[in-house]
Amino acid sequence: MSQKVLIATEKPFAESARDSMVKMLEGAGLKPVVLERYKDPKDLLSAVADVGAIIVRSDKVDKAVLEAGKMLKLVVRAGAGYDNVDCAEAKARRVIVENTPGQNANAVAELTMGLMIMIARGKYSGKSGTELKGKKLGVHALGNIGKIVASLGRAFGMEVCAFDPFVDQCVFDDCCVGCITKLEDLYSTCDYVSVHIPANPETVKSINYQLISKMKKNATLVNTARAEIINEEELLKIMEDRPDIKYASDIAPKNAGAFAEKFPDRVFFTPKKMGAQTAEANTNAGIAATEQIIAYLREGKVLNQVNP
Ligand code: 3PG
Repeated sequence: MSQKVLIATEKPFAESARDSMVKMLEGAGLKPVVLERYKDPKDLLSAVADVGAIIVRSDKVDKAVLEAGKMLKLVVRAGAGYDNVDCAEAKARRVIVENTPGQNANAVAELTMGLMIMIARGKYSGKSGTELKGKKLGVHALGNIGKIVASLGRAFGMEVCAFDPFVDQCVFDDCCVGCITKLEDLYSTCDYVSVHIPANPETVKSINYQLISKMKKNATLVNTARAEIINEEELLKIMEDRPDIKYASDIAPKNAGAFAEKFPDRVFFTPKKMGAQTAEANTNAGIAATEQIIAYLREGKVLNQVNP
């Protein structure tokens, strides 16, 4: 098995995180190769050719990459969402795909609160704004990120409820949040709705006109999950029809320019996807990914596989 491990990050880890990962791999007798800030996907195709394992972030690991990775046995997505990896194709090629759940959750949750404040305070324009305290926060999915957002919301004095048909009542109880059993009720009763669902065939474009139209007057939708889960055309339309609704995200819509032009005070987008872009999150996720690579290449251990 190839002992080469490729760290391929179009959006690099913090240097300290990357250096620790390289050291750990070398310490385990493996051969790290670093490909950062690549612009052309072809660079990834050549870099993956002779490696046994690869660590990526949101980098696309599609059929072409898997085909080019002739010796590839393991892909570790240093992060939570693995919609950037063609898991079925990997499975067909007997390539294991793993993620590192929860490792960057705090960073995303903190950014979520920051986006809420950004909107509440009129994008720091100096205009009189509003406070989060006393407002109702709806958490759409109570996974690793949603749980922290719920806890931070409570610390801000918000009333917090959540919708998640995939978790037990005890999770709602542990988080001290109200359980909403109908998604529309979450959207119709909350001042802030924060979305934390993955992108998959069931969720893509699922946040649509019909759902957003249910939102409470002056409500804000926050998306630090994936751009794909929003039906962007319909979001634009409902924001035209409902001049009270606001939207903040770290994954700008494709037609972000149209949103910014039409609703300058009601939307905010970060220039880059940056929920997990902290030194701490990079270290947590990067080191967890490296440990998983070492566990597999040295002991044959498979951890956090997402394409069983
Ligand atoms: C994740 O799914 O873990 C987050 O969206 C972070 O993605 P990133 O590593 O591309 O910042």
